[in-house]
Parts: sequence; structure tokens; C-alpha cells
Amino acid sequence: MSHDKILTFFAHFIEKELGIIYAEHNYFQLKNRLEEIAKLKGIETIERLYEEAQKGIQGAFKQLLLDIATNNETSFFRDPKVFKAIEALILAEYQKKSPFGARLNIWSAAASTGQESVSTAILIKEFASKMGVNINFGITATDISERVLTRARKGSYSQLEVQRGLPAPLLIKYFKKDENDTWQVVPEIKNCIQFRTQNLKESLSFPEPFDLILCRNVLIYQNVEGKKEILNRITKTLAPGAFLIMGSGESLLGLSNDYESVSSEGAVIYRKKMPSLDKKAA
Ligand SMILES: C[S@@+](CC[C@H](N)C(=O)[O-])C[C@H]1O[C@@H](n2cnc3c(N)ncnc32)[C@H](O)[C@@H]1O
Repeated sequence: MSHDKILTFFAHFIEKELGIIYAEHNYFQLKNRLEEIAKLKGIETIERLYEEAQKGIQGAFKQLLLDIATNNETSFFRDPKVFKAIEALILAEYQKKSPFGARLNIWSAAASTGQESVSTAILIKEFASKMGVNINFGITATDISERVLTRARKGSYSQLEVQRGLPAPLLIKYFKKDENDTWQVVPEIKNCIQFRTQNLKESLSFPEPFDLILCRNVLIYQNVEGKKEILNRITKTLAPGAFLIMGSGESLLGLSNDYESVSSEGAVIYRKKMPSLDKKAA
């Protein structure tokens, strides 16, 4: 079996499971990663790994394959204007509309190692304290990769990680340095976030509709059909009038008519349209 055929086999498997497309010019990267997996499994060559795969790709083997295909790049308060927009638009509106009795339900849909959900929780706590109110909120943070979720659940970050995007006063207030020189998220923040595995390509089931979904820097790896399919599913989990935030290089243009775009603080965010009266009557 030629290397090219083996790489095509694994690339197709990854595309089917994740929707992530490995272009042929990136096959060298896939080859390096498959060699890493082979080593981890105590197998000498990727030919042998391919033979092993013919028996079925399941369990830990499948997870390893999905893990190597994902890019987990993230940082605290990534794209800061988005967080300013959440405060200026979503939290401000929520405060006006509701006396904070109702729970604000948030989903970080490609959470990686958790920085996005931790930043959002900190933002809400800071806003609440500035306004002198109590905000009842919960964040569900999901990712396909168990490896990143295991890290996210620990809520433990290196010096280098906290230096990426986290202002010093917030670091001091919401993290505690442990004896290994890593920074632990305080329980006040950690307890607001629930982590769970979720492949966005598979069906979604959540107990309540979301008021805000952060789905940033994940659809970028999908083809147009994959993006539409995921967006369609995600949209059903959002309450009417609720918000969707994509990555700074991503847009809904040509992908969905279910939203109107709103600009705030230099960020573009999307608001799910209210059902029209015609549709309601139908
Ligand atoms: C680049 S990170 C983005 C993290 C964060 N949202 C941000 O913008 O900083 C993309 C994440 O999407 C996850 N991912 C990729 N494909 C996925 C899928 N089909 N379902 C769920 N998560 C996926 C990856 O494991 C990775 O952690």
C-alpha cells in the first residue's frame, strides 16, 4: 500500500467524522501526526497503523485520530472587541430586560482548553460587580477533543497561557498560583462552567435554549455544506432574539438567513431573527 493511499484513507476518515478537510498539500502534516500516533500505540510504521485501522477505528484509537486533526489554538479574551460587545450589547440589554432573575444560558461550542468560557465567566462576574447586581448564568463548554476537555476541566493554566490576553488585575483576582507555578481558576468561576464532549457534526441535545452561543474559529475548517449543516443545528438551540458569535475571520454570509448582523464595539455579532407573524400563524 503506497503512502499516498494510506494518507488518503485517514484523511477521508477524519473528514467523515469531523468535517475537517486535509488538503493534499497538508498530507505531510498528516503523515507526521500519524507517525506520532503509531509511536503512541507502539506500532513501528504507518503501514502497520493502516492495517490496524482495517480492523475498525474505535475508542482510544478514534479519539487519537480526531485529536491530531484538530487545531486547538485559543487564548484568554481572544479578539477583545467581542468581549466588549458582549458587555455593551448582550449583558447591558439583559440587565435592562430582566431583573436578573432569569438565567443567562451560554454555550462555548468549540471550547478547546477552556479560555473562552473562563473569559466569558470573568466578564459576567466583572459586569455584575460593576453594576452591583447578581447575574444568574451558566456556561456549557463543549469540544470534540477529550484531550483538550481534560485540560479545560482542570482549570489550570501555565504562566505563558495566562500571559496571553489576561489582564494582570483579572489574573490576580480570579486565579491562584499553585506550588507548580501553574495558575488555577478559582471555584467561583470554575463552578459556572460545565464541560462536555460534543461533535458539532452530530445531533445536539440541551435542556434549555441558549441566550448566547460562541462558535468561534471552528467552522473555518468545514466546507460550505458542513458549515451550513452545523449552523442549522446550532440555530435550533438558540432562543429567538438570542446571539451567535463567530470568529473574527468568519461570517454567516451565504450560509444562513436566520440571523441579522449587529455591530457593536467594532465586532460583528449575529442575532437570531424572531419568528415572523406569518410563520407563527401557520
Ligand atoms: C481553534 S479552536 C477554537 C477555540 C475557541 N473557540 C477560540 O476561538 O479561541 C477550535 C476547536 O474546535 C474543536 N473542533 C473541531 N472540529 C470540531 C467538531 N466537529 N465538533 C466540535 N468541536 C470541534 C477543536 O477540537 C478545537 O478545540
